Amino acid sequence: MTVEATDVPVTRAPLDEKGRSILFYEARTANSFADTPVTDAELSQIWDLAKWPPTAANTQPLRVLYVRTPEGKERLVKHMADGNKAKTASAPAVAVLSIDPDYHEHIPTLFPMRPQMKDVFAANPEMRDASGRFSGALQAGYFILAVRAAGLVAGPMAGYDAAGIEGEFFPEGDRKVQLVVNIGHPGENPWFDRLPRLDDEVALDWA
Ligand SMILES: Cc1cc2nc3c(=O)[nH]c(=O)nc-3n(C[C@H](O)[C@H](O)[C@H](O)COP(=O)(O)O)c2cc1C
Repeated sequence: MTVEATDVPVTRAPLDEKGRSILFYEARTANSFADTPVTDAELSQIWDLAKWPPTAANTQPLRVLYVRTPEGKERLVKHMADGNKAKTASAPAVAVLSIDPDYHEHIPTLFPMRPQMKDVFAANPEMRDASGRFSGALQAGYFILAVRAAGLVAGPMAGYDAAGIEGEFFPEGDRKVQLVVNIGHPGENPWFDRLPRLDDEVALDWA
């Protein structure tokens, strides 16, 4: 889809309190999930939201593998850290977020005003990897917020055997796993106690 710059409204309104609560104030990390299924349409909707926020040179290096069949879950759970196995097993859907190491191949399509940037990225593997990981991490954050915006709860996890997941699902070496996110509806005792957030005095500086 192409949107002409002249079609984009220049005025913006703040998100209302309900929207802010859904995305931020009352949103929590889920540690158990109900049996309620998550449909493929809902999972598609999550990506329909998550794909819009910005990435460096619009490169969009993140890829998503949705695991939701019992067979797929079994293949994934065995590579999760012990403390994450039960929650991953209880989630009706799990997203394996990864980076496509060859994401720069899409630059001529995604950044058509400077297609030659593909060659710059191709010639600089270290820069390409660092930029891919940075934009991919941003996209992982956008993805978590998109899960919340779709009316579902997310459980992001970095505790897993990355090489194990890559060997299991991406034996061609065409993905670098970045984050695994349980998705569903909250189950029994789904939340840990809310942990503190940094005070403004610590987190903010003003100039
Ligand atoms: C990058 C990342 C890695 C995480 N890894 C794990 C994990 O391996 N296991 C787990 O139970 N929770 C994991 N979490 C969940 C965090 O501990 C949780 O989101 C945080 O404490 C905030 O909880 P809250 O959203 O309920 O306030 C991870 C979260 C993030 C963003």
